[in-house]
Amino acid sequence: MKKLRVAVLYGGRSGEHEVSLQSAASVINHLDRDRFEIVPVAIDKQGRWHLNDVSLIQGKKSLPVFKDAPRIVLPPDSAATGALISLGGSGEAKAIDVVFPVIHGPLCEDGTIQGLLELADVPYVGCGVLASAVAMDKEVAKRLARDAGLPIVSYVSLRQEHWRKEKRQVAERVEKNLGYPVFVKPANLGSSVGVQKVKEAGDLTTALANAFQYDVKVLVEVAVDAREIELSVLENPDSGADPLVSVPGEIEPNHEFYSYEAKYLDEKGAALIIPAKLDADQIRRVQDIGRKAFLSMECEGMARVDLLLDRTSEKLFFNELNTIPGFTSISMYPKLWEASGISYTELLSRLVDLAISRHKRKKALVREFHV
Ligand SMILES: Nc1ncnc2c1ncn2[C@@H]1O[C@H](COP(=O)(O)OP(=O)(O)O)[C@@H](O)[C@H]1O
Ligand SMILES: [Mg+2]
Repeated sequence: MKKLRVAVLYGGRSGEHEVSLQSAASVINHLDRDRFEIVPVAIDKQGRWHLNDVSLIQGKKSLPVFKDAPRIVLPPDSAATGALISLGGSGEAKAIDVVFPVIHGPLCEDGTIQGLLELADVPYVGCGVLASAVAMDKEVAKRLARDAGLPIVSYVSLRQEHWRKEKRQVAERVEKNLGYPVFVKPANLGSSVGVQKVKEAGDLTTALANAFQYDVKVLVEVAVDAREIELSVLENPDSGADPLVSVPGEIEPNHEFYSYEAKYLDEKGAALIIPAKLDADQIRRVQDIGRKAFLSMECEGMARVDLLLDRTSEKLFFNELNTIPGFTSISMYPKLWEASGISYTELLSRLVDLAISRHKRKKALVREFHV
């Protein structure tokens, strides 16, 4: 059988560029070589696409972005059907069968790349434009989750222009509605960039000013003294059937919360506990929230759903949904599937197959209308 050519996109123009280099290294090392031929495509921090030689990056823990590797583009032109075109005219066009975006954060995971892949008419792994965009915006995601009957923490959503004009009124509103402590976070970011815990009124303005550097919309949420529970969700290959959910895992940060430092700078920043120590009823409730969150945001392919479990009341809250979760071999998403009986390599094969069958389903839709 002819091997499928999988373009693995990595790097990207976001604060999570470095995380992507590690996730993609792991994906490339685990993709089934009997079924797939790998085409590694690095997106540098300026947004330029480079075609890399797989033999130079195989076996690495973090992928390099070679600046002198040939530049390529994916034209937003369905006639080219998934051909990577070389810039500078030297190389030939390289046809690809499917794209696996292993990039995190804004301009990567938020529907923008997915939009380009739709225009180029090439199958791609993971959520489509709508779910990607919705899940990236923590506030819109919460609204959809709430609409599906899922519990969320109380929050206030602030716009930069409003906050600049009425800082004092905004602080009063936060105090009146939420009290302290609160979490302040940019609406559209990840990796805990700009996320701060504020314990008293005097620190709110500084935290907001910091968060507004990263986004024009900022959320202020009640801080829950919570255990952090995560769950992996996978689209059901039986189209239309309920998505598959993994066993839940738990993150135990060794910092005040699961900050950027705890995630990436401190090697012992957090422990991953798989499976999470929960009773049968809690597991059932966590999985139910995971399934409903995936469906409420109209996800496709995969998502990792993050929840908060209040230590005192034992209430569960939906916190956020990540459409391109971390994919290193020690990351929660693949680890939870391993613990649930799906190996890393099998998981990747399933994701590619899901991408191809979704593309086929969409292709069958009528695009022109004649009376
Ligand atoms: N409302 C909250 N209550 C308690 N902890 C929170 C709350 N919101 C965020 N946190 C802490 O901050 C971390 C990062 O926030 P999160 O909303 O998950 O953003 P990110 O997309 O950057 O991961 C969480 O993993 C958790 O440790
Ligand atoms: Mg998070």
